Amino acid sequence: MEKIKVLVCGAAGKMGRQTVKTILQRDNIELVAAVDTTENAGKDAGELATGKKIGIKIEDSAEKVFKKEKIDVMVDFTNGKASPVNMSAAIFAGCACVVGSTGISQESIDDIRKKSEETGVPVLIAPNFSLGAVLMMRFSKSAAKYFEWAEIIELHHENKIDAPSGTAIRTADLMAQNRETFNSPPAETEKIPGVRGGIRNGIRIHSVRMPGFLAHQEVNLGGVGEVLKIRHDSISRECFMSGVMLAIEKVRDLSGMVVGLENILE
Ligand SMILES: NC(=O)c1ccc[n+]([C@@H]2O[C@H](COP(=O)([O-])OP(=O)(O)OC[C@H]3O[C@@H](n4cnc5c(N)ncnc54)[C@H](O)[C@@H]3O)[C@@H](O)[C@H]2O)c1
Repeated sequence: MEKIKVLVCGAAGKMGRQTVKTILQRDNIELVAAVDTTENAGKDAGELATGKKIGIKIEDSAEKVFKKEKIDVMVDFTNGKASPVNMSAAIFAGCACVVGSTGISQESIDDIRKKSEETGVPVLIAPNFSLGAVLMMRFSKSAAKYFEWAEIIELHHENKIDAPSGTAIRTADLMAQNRETFNSPPAETEKIPGVRGGIRNGIRIHSVRMPGFLAHQEVNLGGVGEVLKIRHDSISRECFMSGVMLAIEKVRDLSGMVVGLENILE
């Protein structure tokens, strides 16, 4: 069987390096190119990921890569601004996209969805590639049917640049599919602005950022005389990799844009 030819965007970043490292261990997936910002251009992608050179130099533009290489799947772990630019270049080149970047605006998502549908190039965007996190979201959605009160606390490392996390937003959106309104205290005074968190679909989301955390989320559901807590902890970036590899293998079977890893799990 032919190997799936992959480009990794954001290859010098934490998730990008982990993705490169994992791809290098796979025999059905081949890393053919890597992209990051100008400061990282020219570095060997393998050396950054594993300490061992592989002869694939990081380039500074996905668009340039698509002009000279045939790529089957682009994996993007950059940020909310860079990712839509990379996805547009990939779609234009007829290359399927697997996107883990968060903080992408709704406007950009709508634009990419349109491009994906018009061209038939599949795009999978997953705010969280870890199996446990996907199940945490699935269980929270089910529980929302039975609990009128819900608040989400998400905790991440201090270098995360968007808040709340894509996972928290996705969780609140899934929960809202099972309940129209969530309760909140009738009269509240915030003595410190923002202390009660941000609201998505009536669910309060609280974001914690500090060293020591990687990616964690606790969904608290309140009922009469009881609290249900659904908690997920990512303790190493390896937890995202089985989802990313599965997405690389399956994305070309999808049509249009699909949001959420749960859509490709059996
Ligand atoms: N979906 C998931 O499961 C999951 C898990 C962890 C992180 N994330 C998200 O993935 C993204 C990356 O996370 P990270 O922790 O690796 O961050 P990071 O800052 O370590 O890496 C991002 C990389 O992207 C590069 N970059 C920035 N602009 C670029 C551009 N225009 N073209 C190419 N490369 C560019 C940066 O130089 C950097 O090397 C974030 O949005 C984060 O929230 C998603």
